Parts: sequence; C-alpha cells; structure tokens
Amino acid sequence: MSGGHSTYEPTSGIGKWVDSRLPLPRLVYDSFVAYPVPRNLNYAYTFGAILAVMLVVQLLTGIVLAMHYVASTGLAFSSVESIMRDVNSGMLLRYMHANGASFFFIAVYIHIFRGLYYGSYKAPREILWILGVIIYLLMMATGFMGYVLPWGQMSFWGATVITNFFTAFPGIGEPIQQLLLGGFAVDNPTLNRFFSLHYLLPFMIAGVVILHVWALHVTGQTNPTGVEVKSKTDTLAFTPYATIKDAFATVVFLLVFAYFVFYMPNYLGHPDNYIEANPLVTPAHIVPEWYYLPFYAILRAIDFNVWFIDSKLGGVLAMFGSILVLFFVPWLDTSKVRSAVYRPWYKLFFWLFVIDSIFLGWLGSKPAEGTYTLMAQAATAYYFGFFIIIMPLLGLFEKPRKVPNSITEAVLAKQGSGKPEAAAAAPENRG
Ligand code: HEM
Repeated sequence: MSGGHSTYEPTSGIGKWVDSRLPLPRLVYDSFVAYPVPRNLNYAYTFGAILAVMLVVQLLTGIVLAMHYVASTGLAFSSVESIMRDVNSGMLLRYMHANGASFFFIAVYIHIFRGLYYGSYKAPREILWILGVIIYLLMMATGFMGYVLPWGQMSFWGATVITNFFTAFPGIGEPIQQLLLGGFAVDNPTLNRFFSLHYLLPFMIAGVVILHVWALHVTGQTNPTGVEVKSKTDTLAFTPYATIKDAFATVVFLLVFAYFVFYMPNYLGHPDNYIEANPLVTPAHIVPEWYYLPFYAILRAIDFNVWFIDSKLGGVLAMFGSILVLFFVPWLDTSKVRSAVYRPWYKLFFWLFVIDSIFLGWLGSKPAEGTYTLMAQAATAYYFGFFIIIMPLLGLFEKPRKVPNSITEAVLAKQGSGKPEAAAAAPENRG
C-alpha cells in the first residue's frame, strides 16, 4: 500500500534541506498524512493509536517516578510513600502510572479482540500479528515486574508465587527461578533486577511497536468488510480523516482514565499492597492484577495429573500455552472469509469466547476450590477449543454470507444511496 516510491517534495526551505539529507519529512508525510486508510474504519480501529498514547504516558510518568524511587528492600516501600506525599505532583504521577498500566491492558485487550473479530491476523498480516503477540508478552512481563517495585505484601507474595511456577519444569526449572530471583527467595537482588528490567522492557516494547507499525504500513489496514482495498474510492487520506477520529477516541479514553486517576485511584489495586512486604506473614488470598486473572484461572484449573505431567506442571503449561496459542492463530483459522461480519457461526463462537475470557477473569479472583474449579475447567476447555478445534473446523464447514465486491460497494449499500461514482466524486477522491 505504501510500498511505492514517494513523490513527496517538502515545500519549505528547511524541509527541503533536511529531506535531501535524511528523508524524515518524507517518511512522516507518507506514513501519517497521505497514507491511504480504508474509508469504512470504525472506532474499534482507533485502539492502536490509543495504545501508542498510553505507551508514551507510561514511559513519561515512569521515568519521573524512577528519579525518586529507591530499589532497595529497606527503602522501596517508604520511597513510594514519599513520592505520594513529598514529591511535587508525585501522587498524580504514581496514580497515572499505576492506573495507566490497567488502561494500557484494557486497550490492548480491545485491540486483540478486534483483531480476532475482523480476522486481522490473516495473510498477509501474519508478521504484524506475531509482533503484536510479542508486544503483549513484553507488556505482561513489564506489568508483573512493576507490581513488585512498591514492595507491598502483594508485590512480595505475587513475585514469590509467579517465580515459583518455573520450578514445575523438571531440571531447568530451579536454575531459571534462581536466575530470576538472584538467590533462593524474593529479596534485594530480585528487587534490583526487576527494577532494571522494568525500566528496560518498555523501550523494547517501543522498538517492537515501530516494527509493528512498519509491517502495518506495508500490508495496509484491514476494515470491517475484510475486503482488501481495490481502488482509490475505497480509501481516504490518513490526515485529516483517521487523525481526527483517533484523536477524538483518545480524548474520550483519556477522560475515563482521568476519572479513575482523580476519583477512584485505588479501585483497580489491592489494599494489601499498602502493607509493607513481610516474608513472615502470608496474605489470606494472593491474587494477581486483574489483567492476569484469566491466565491465573487457567493455571489453577489443572488440578489433576495427566500421565507423567503432574498438576503443577500441567497448570503452568496450560497457562503459557493459552498465550502461546495466539502465535498460531493465522494458521489455525482456515476460513477464506476474513471478517466475522460475514461469518454467522464464527461470530457466535467469537462472542462466546469473549464471555468465556471475562468469566475466566472472574474465576481467577475466586478461591480455587469446589465448583469454581469445575467452572474454570469448563471455561479453560472452551478457551483452547475455540482456537484448536472451532477455528480450524469452522473454516471447512461454515457457509459465509455474501461478501461485498469492494469497500465502496459496502459503504454505499449501508448508506442506501447512490452508486460507486458518488464516492469517486467526493472532494477527497478528486485529483
Ligand atoms: C503497545 C502496544 C500496541 C500498539 C502501540 C499497537 C499499535 C497499532 C496501530 C497504531 C495499529 C493501526 C491502527 C489500528 O488498527 O488500531 C495496529 C494494528 C494492528 N495491531 Fe497493534 N498495537 C499494539 C499491540 C498489539 C497486539 C498485542 C496485537 C495482537 C496480539 C496487535 C495486533 C495488531 C494487528 C493484527 C493490527 C492490524 C489491524 C488491521 O489492520 O486489521 N497489536 N496496532
């Protein structure tokens, strides 16, 4: 889509001077001004831009927080208290960063579900999707390490539980756990390496985001019809059309974010993390942050041994497998039709999958006993069944609805007026 040779010439003198030495003005113009986007993108397609904004929010607030934070078990908790009470705007910075992590995950979950609904992962966008899954994994690691830094009870016990998972792997498990901890238990070396990695990983995320957006600009965006762009009437220039839409969606998203930061800043956190870490007192329930809860439910759903795999290893494999399966989605979906809009059965199973994921999240916050475990087992079975059984088989058996011939045809059919020439005559498509 944007693979062609650029014809852009800067108009200003300084623009010409820079462009002939480093074609940055040309790159920005081609990628964010002239770049053609499908004319029928809906608001589900604004979450990529929202994610980019949230990444910047996290980087900026995090860098300033790090100026005041002390990564030492004796001082970490009180340094965070001091940020809240003594540092100028420290409370705001900390609440923005902590709630920002949650909102980052809200946005990424909508972004991923959007991809699954509209078949964004299908050829030729496999690498774009895989880069997204890598970003998601990096986000999970970053969030986990960040939660350890305030050195509260949940920080300490969460880190203890999660790093313990690795011991489930025979032979290699314990050395990996000790490498992560920098010793035999969560302690000062753990806090130091987690701080170092928590600072590093967001920059790696930023690097992978650049590759992600690069891949996007090579293949072009999909759209709700799933039909590829065929003619000029199918697209609009990124600026002002997509820029305005992305900006509006970002402002609405940030307003909700601000509501949490200013009016309910601790709603998404756990009260036990306001108690300093104490290795001698275990909290009544150790629960991870909400965005990990579905995976926590899958981990605990496996309470039985399968052949030589004991329940602990089985749970850890299921938990990692539930994320790794995302890498194979482009090849698991065998349907020739991309968008769920024209796939009645896929649409139904997709929404069941969304409900199932939310249900797993709820189960992750409940104790792993009795009917909760049974429900978690059923929900885990559907989670994997969706990817491994439903996706491949549906493509073979499902009868899709008629797909429009082009984006323009779909847009005009929706508006119920005119012919494709009407779109061609629109001012933005002339010339
Ligand atoms: C920091 C995190 C991320 C950022 C900043 C980001 C950014 C973007 C942007 C700007 C777009 C184009 C606009 C849009 O379609 O929303 C996009 C598209 C896309 N993203 Fe992401 N993304 C992130 C994470 C992810 C993740 C975790 C996945 C999947 C696991 C993913 C998969 C995709 C796919 C498949 C598309 C193409 C959508 C289409 O054209 O149908 N992204 N991303």
